[in-house]
Amino acid sequence: MIKHTLNIEYFTFKSIDDLDEKDQEIIKLAVEQLQHSYSPYSEFQVGAAARLSNDKIALGSNQENASYPLCICGERVALFSASSQWPGVSIDSLAITAKNLNKPVTLPVSPCGACRQVIQEYENRQDTPIRILLKADKDEILMFKSAKDLLPFGFDQSFL
Ligand code: THU
Repeated sequence: MIKHTLNIEYFTFKSIDDLDEKDQEIIKLAVEQLQHSYSPYSEFQVGAAARLSNDKIALGSNQENASYPLCICGERVALFSASSQWPGVSIDSLAITAKNLNKPVTLPVSPCGACRQVIQEYENRQDTPIRILLKADKDEILMFKSAKDLLPFGFDQSFL
């Protein structure tokens, strides 16, 4: 038996003020998106904002349905919106935040497995990493340089 160890890099910022202006902007837009979340069933709101390489910003929030499996996560709404509106333009950064109407959201607020898989697919398509910025209720921000850091051993088209 051989033991292998993976190192995953992530960065923390004490507050949004420690980020550059462009990152601050998408974090603020993600927070604004919380109000557009349609989440009467979970009462868990997710807001997201994706900055593209042409500096356009695609927004998203989670959208739920009485038929629960039809719910779609906020991150995916933002990514699909980016790809539909500006096809072929790479996505540089994705800011995600969440608010639980019933209790505080503590760090790390992190994309679900399905969203990690979707972010990875966009990274592979564009062949450049997507930075992921995460914010919960507190001021602290987590930053990952690539979806791959959130999805080691991910499944991708190379297996097909
Ligand atoms: N949700 C997201 O929007 N993103 C995630 O990464 C995790 C979960 C949404 C789906 C559902 O509307 C609610 O949060 C509770 O799971």
